[in-house]
Amino acid sequence: MNSLPIGIFDSGIGGLTVLRAIRDRLKSENLLYLGDTARVPYGTKSRTTIERYAVEDAAFLVEKGVKLIVVACNTASAMARERLREEFDIPFLTVLGPGARAAARQTLTGRIGVIATEATIGSGAYERAIREAVRNEDETRAIEVFSKACPLFVPLVEEGETDSDIAKQVAVKYLAELRDRKIDTLVLGCTHYPLLKGVIAETMGNGVTLIDSADAVAEEARILLARLDLLNDDITSNYSRFYVTDAAGRFHRIAERILGAPLDHLEAVEIWGHDRLNTTATN
Ligand code: DGL
Repeated sequence: MNSLPIGIFDSGIGGLTVLRAIRDRLKSENLLYLGDTARVPYGTKSRTTIERYAVEDAAFLVEKGVKLIVVACNTASAMARERLREEFDIPFLTVLGPGARAAARQTLTGRIGVIATEATIGSGAYERAIREAVRNEDETRAIEVFSKACPLFVPLVEEGETDSDIAKQVAVKYLAELRDRKIDTLVLGCTHYPLLKGVIAETMGNGVTLIDSADAVAEEARILLARLDLLNDDITSNYSRFYVTDAAGRFHRIAERILGAPLDHLEAVEIWGHDRLNTTATN
């Protein structure tokens, strides 16, 4: 059981920022990554559609026999978390809570910005999670949360345009109003956005700390697996396997650049209809 892989999914390549952090922190864990590249982006779709995609993603990973699923997509975390918990009897970790808690710990002024997809911002899930995290630390503390949807960031990242003039122009367009809000902490509320960190940091200027939830998620995964007595201590044959729903060649190129290492196993798969599988608990 302990040597079963951790399943990680995202709409595309963004979740690789989370996989990278998990791989760094939990070196002996086996990992399966699913990028739903045929249907990216999720962030412009309706709740019903995002729920269906997330259930199909999770069902695919459950069928592969994972011991934990990390939803490395804020959009799926915000829109489909309850649905996933209803449908599957397996531990889930989403990126939204760890990011919100990290922001609550970081801010000094209580002025926090959140950037994410339209669906995530529209759901209000980050603002609720940040307020809850701050309340848990200090009930009397006043905070203000300023949210901004940045829909063009995901296609820019999927195109590998992470440091170009176009990326800079788009960042200035989206982030100007957050600069005026005098925030001291900015949550990168989409797993694609850490790949634009340089451009975002330059646009926001000094004095604003960017929160990338990947490290916080990796640490929470370690704590959760330890609590469930599911950590893998066999370091002899560790693997990371990658699955995509389309355009494997493109994913291959970009993923190797992001991870800084060759991919041992990459496979194109069809996951449609996986929500109708009879998925049983694997622990
Ligand atoms: N990377 C995902 C997120 O964190 C999804 C982006 C998208 O597909 O729109 O929200």
